Amino acid sequence: MAADRVICINNNVTYSALRKAMCIGVRSVEEIKKATGVCDDCSGCKTEIPKILASVCGCRNVLLKDVVDAVKAGADTVEKVGSVTGAGLDCGRCKVLIENIIELGY
Ligand code: FES
Repeated sequence: MAADRVICINNNVTYSALRKAMCIGVRSVEEIKKATGVCDDCSGCKTEIPKILASVCGCRNVLLKDVVDAVKAGADTVEKVGSVTGAGLDCGRCKVLIENIIELGY
């Protein structure tokens, strides 16, 4: 399953662990190191983590910046964010992250 692939080779941290951390407010490399134990040094960390942190919805290729902009413009529900950005309209796996972005505002 793609969601369970290992991103940090040195510390065996998976994609789903990184996404779960983002769903509770983790947004930066330093924060994700503390929250998940990624090494931030292996090839997986160097190539994948910046992309993962920047992305909200893989189905529609919606970036964190796009969702934050939508929230700042007044989208205060997952449905409103979806209508503006397209995020959350397919598989729905990104909805928890969208809710967290709405709650935190970033
Ligand atoms: S990841 Fe956002 S709808 Fe599938």
